[in-house]
This record gives sequence, C-alpha cells and structure tokens, in this order.
Amino acid sequence: MKTITNEVRDAVERSVLCWLATNDESGQPNVSPKEVFAVADDQHIVVANIASPGSAKNIRVNQKICLSFIDVFVQKGFKVMGTAVEVKPSESGYARWAAPLLEQAGERYPIQGVFVINVLSVRSILAPSYRLYPCETTEESQIQSALRAYGVTRHKRA
Ligand SMILES: Cc1cc2nc3c(=O)[nH]c(=O)nc-3n(C[C@H](O)[C@H](O)[C@H](O)COP(=O)(O)O)c2cc1C
Repeated sequence: MKTITNEVRDAVERSVLCWLATNDESGQPNVSPKEVFAVADDQHIVVANIASPGSAKNIRVNQKICLSFIDVFVQKGFKVMGTAVEVKPSESGYARWAAPLLEQAGERYPIQGVFVINVLSVRSILAPSYRLYPCETTEESQIQSALRAYGVTRHKRA
C-alpha cells in the first residue's frame, strides 16, 4: 500500500506552508515553517533548505522529524512522521530530489540543500468542529469561518 496516498498528495499541493519539527541532541524541539515542499514519490516528501540552518543541524544529529500541513481554509491536513536527511547539491541524487522544489523556488530563492523525508506514518489533522459538531460542520462552513477569521474576501477566478 502507498504510504503517501492521493489524498495526502492533494493536501500537500493545497497547503501553502508546512511546519517541520526536529530535535537537537538534548531533545529540545524546534519547529519552523517551510513554503517550498512537495511530494517526490509514494514514499518521500522533499522540503527546500533555503534558510533553515537550525533544522539542518538537528537533522544531522537526529533524523526523526514530524511535518504537518493544513489547508487553512478547509481546516484539514496531515501530520507525517518520518526520518530526514539533507541532500546537498554536490551529492548524487540531488537533481532528482530538487526537481519539484526548483519549480517552486525559482532563481529568487537559492536552495542550499533538500531535506528528503522518508515517510513512516501519516495521520490526518481535522479542526475539532468536524468531530464536535458534525451536523453543522461542512468544508464550506469551515471555509466561511476561516475567511472571517483571517479577514479575507473570496474572489471568483476570472
Ligand atoms: C512564510 C514562510 C515561508 C518559508 N519558507 C521556507 C522554505 O521553504 N525553506 C526554508 O528553508 N525556510 C523557509 N522559511 C524560513 C524559515 O522558516 C526560517 O528561516 C526559520 O527561522 C528557520 O528555522 P530553522 O533554522 O530552525 O529551521 C520560511 C519562512 C516563512 C515565514
């Protein structure tokens, strides 16, 4: 069975940001947002190291990571547990891992390396309303509530 299902793949594409959690050698957690990330294949998610020296340092001492991402409007997403290594541009395999990220980052955001995440498990993240108030909670009602919370007006695409 695929570790990264089509549903997870769609959620990665819809999520603007992911949050990467790592730990240092003492167990101190570190979490930071990354915008440039993608599903590389059925087993791996790749994240661009553009300005993440802390994550890179932690991954060198402890490969265990957690990555979460949500669609902030629908208020659903996933939490991924796995292990990560950083692949540098000088290393073999870099071109393959970096390909989906280079499209997103362009030349404006130079990639120092790619965090290649081997996905071991995936759990869904749901806003509590979906479970607490199932009769009145729909994706559309959550979108409306998020639009109000963020003070955003939805425009129809031309
Ligand atoms: C909206 C947003 C998107 C970001 N995207 C990325 C990214 O894709 N890659 C990256 O390395 N840093 C990205 N950053 C910057 C890191 O989150 C930031 O430099 C952070 O302090 C890195 O922490 P770390 O060194 O502990 O990983 C982003 C920051 C913000 C606010």
